[in-house]
Amino acid sequence: MPSVAQGGLQNKGSHNSSGKFSNKDGTRKAEFFARRQRIAQQRKSLPIAAVEKRLVEEVQKNDTLIIVGETGSGKTTQIPQFLFNAGFCRDGKVVGITQPRRVAAVTVAKRVAEECGVELGQKVGYSIRFEDATSSSTRIKYMTDGLLLREALLDPSLSRYSVIIVDEAHERTVHTDVLLGLLKNVQLARMNSTKYGHNIEDKKVNSVTSLEKENGDTSFLKKCQGRKYSPLKIIIMSASLDARVFSEYFGGAKAVHVQGRQFPVDLFYTLHPETDYLDAALITTFQIHLKESPGDILVFLTGQEEIESAEKFINERLNQLPEGSQKLLTVPIFASLPSEQQMRVFAPAPAGFRKVILATNIAETSVTIPGIKYVIDPGFVKARSYDPVKGMESLIVVPTSKSQAMQRSGRAGREGPGKCFRLYPENEFEKLEDSTKPEIKRCNLSNVILQLKALGVDDILGFDFIEKPPRAAIIKSLEQLFLLGALTDDCRLSDPVGHQMARLPLDPFYSKALILASQFNCLEEMLITVAMLSTESIFYTPRDKGAEAKAAMKCFSSPEGDHLTLINVYRTSDELLEKRKMTFVKEKNDKVLRKWCKDNFINTRSLRHARDIHNQICGHVEQMGLHVTSCGDDMLQYRRCLAASFFLNAAVKQPEGTYRALGSGQVVQIHPTSVLFQKKAECIIFNEMVETSHKYVRNVTRIDYLWLTELAPQYYTSQK
Ligand code: CDP
Ligand code: MG
Repeated sequence: MPSVAQGGLQNKGSHNSSGKFSNKDGTRKAEFFARRQRIAQQRKSLPIAAVEKRLVEEVQKNDTLIIVGETGSGKTTQIPQFLFNAGFCRDGKVVGITQPRRVAAVTVAKRVAEECGVELGQKVGYSIRFEDATSSSTRIKYMTDGLLLREALLDPSLSRYSVIIVDEAHERTVHTDVLLGLLKNVQLARMNSTKYGHNIEDKKVNSVTSLEKENGDTSFLKKCQGRKYSPLKIIIMSASLDARVFSEYFGGAKAVHVQGRQFPVDLFYTLHPETDYLDAALITTFQIHLKESPGDILVFLTGQEEIESAEKFINERLNQLPEGSQKLLTVPIFASLPSEQQMRVFAPAPAGFRKVILATNIAETSVTIPGIKYVIDPGFVKARSYDPVKGMESLIVVPTSKSQAMQRSGRAGREGPGKCFRLYPENEFEKLEDSTKPEIKRCNLSNVILQLKALGVDDILGFDFIEKPPRAAIIKSLEQLFLLGALTDDCRLSDPVGHQMARLPLDPFYSKALILASQFNCLEEMLITVAMLSTESIFYTPRDKGAEAKAAMKCFSSPEGDHLTLINVYRTSDELLEKRKMTFVKEKNDKVLRKWCKDNFINTRSLRHARDIHNQICGHVEQMGLHVTSCGDDMLQYRRCLAASFFLNAAVKQPEGTYRALGSGQVVQIHPTSVLFQKKAECIIFNEMVETSHKYVRNVTRIDYLWLTELAPQYYTSQK
């Protein structure tokens, strides 16, 4: 199956020894030119192509512009090229486009590089956490919003950029919201510094004073003072029709609408609520496949695990399809999918196949996949939720909003009439929220606060957020950062810990764990831990092979807990690849790793992702001058370091067998996938809480209760 799946993309990676296969070369060339022509035609037919001139004029006239356009109209791929052609990249300046999602940044950059006929990483590139495909010649740069925030730490005026496009602003991720506030400041600071005409000079005086009043904090502006910058254009792009909130935030900025093309989509609902939406989605997939006319199917699921089990289920039943019927080709798309696999989703299904795209909400508006005629929408999405009183963040599966449901169904009608199957009764639709609550109102803010502090924004409560996060959440996060030693008594970034933590592109808890580990002499182990914890589940348990998977996991499991178990997996994979170093053929190594993973019920994609992350963070800690040493067999030392790092997530066993989380007071249970499930650890630390029928904690390690008062006296002496 994989070889068929990759068929559409293969010419890209394969190379020829020159001259030998001239016939093949000829065909390749013809294919290449045909594809270029097709792309040029596709570009011309996009709704946005007709308004290029007007859009460019609007950008020239307005410092801040809001562009609203239906998904698929060509905003993300075309507008940066329009700006490049209009001269916005003169003098080596860069047009930056931010995306809330890594996958969108990568896939769009690849597409635009191809449209421009350039090699990725040259004129067109992307940069996301742990992966950089840019060079000094990059002029159109796609990146995640989080990454641009990090760049601002090194270059507070974002001086390389002439234009910054905040794409997918309607998603209102926490990074987008913070970025908008930051860009507003940068734009003012750059205007303030320029001598580019009276208009701007005049504006500058008023704006800076008003900003001072609003924020009571001009430290950021001061950072940029005394230097000359060219003005910064800001473009906010959104798929939601309501541009008011952005326009008001940017002092009445102009909004323009780009017409999309939308064909009718028939909506179908179930008669009764579904008890198992994954099951229902799979049944619907096969029903469409057997009864409906050709056209690809897009299924919205909530995460990697669900997508992978759906993929497996469908592939295992392919041979049950009636003889002679069209075949099915499954293609997944989710956030942590390795970049080399992401583009598969855009390749047309080979002849005789119908494509089934298994996607997270990434395919709602971030990436537009051609060829879709049927959408299956179970009506759920995985979202962050935060309880500021308890200081606990968790990922939960919740119903989508009405606007998400409508975006999803819209995907079926881009190229012709389509059908959308909502797997819930019609009256349930009316009960959905109109739109999703901005993430900043429902997440832990420690990370964002740490970054804002590092940018010189000291007054977080006074920061000009587009929508203020709950005061309680800000205070709780400040408190957590203080307990982690990142902030001083007067709430400034501490030296060196706070500054070191802000430099690492990780959750503050993980950053702190790495810094502590260098003192506990177990940084080698902690680097592996953090890398493994930064991916979705390493182990997978097929629905029908629970016992085998459990037995396989036993080979790695440590009686001390999941963290050491993960280290065992990583090190075994290391040994395996080390042994193969001599052969050095990447494809062969990949194959060996894949087989080993399959035999051991380990998720290859997650493990590879973890290995990449590991390489990246090793680079960061080395740059910071931390010593990478191993604690060898002294696992006590490592567990003590875990306790010192994650003390806010400690829990003690209660008489009836459940655990009480010491930080939040919540009653939790150890997740059944943990190696400590049903073991009798008296005191544990954990990394994650998930809420399904119960509150479960995952990634758990046994610790000694007394370590908490010894290693985290700032928290536990007063709590005892
Ligand atoms: O941003 P917006 O939703 O307005 O559209 P876009 O992402 O710029 O997509 C414009 C067109 O490019 C769509 O027809 C996509 O299907 C196509 N596209 C593609 O074929 N491959 C990609 N990697 C990205 C976009
Ligand atoms: Mg877009």
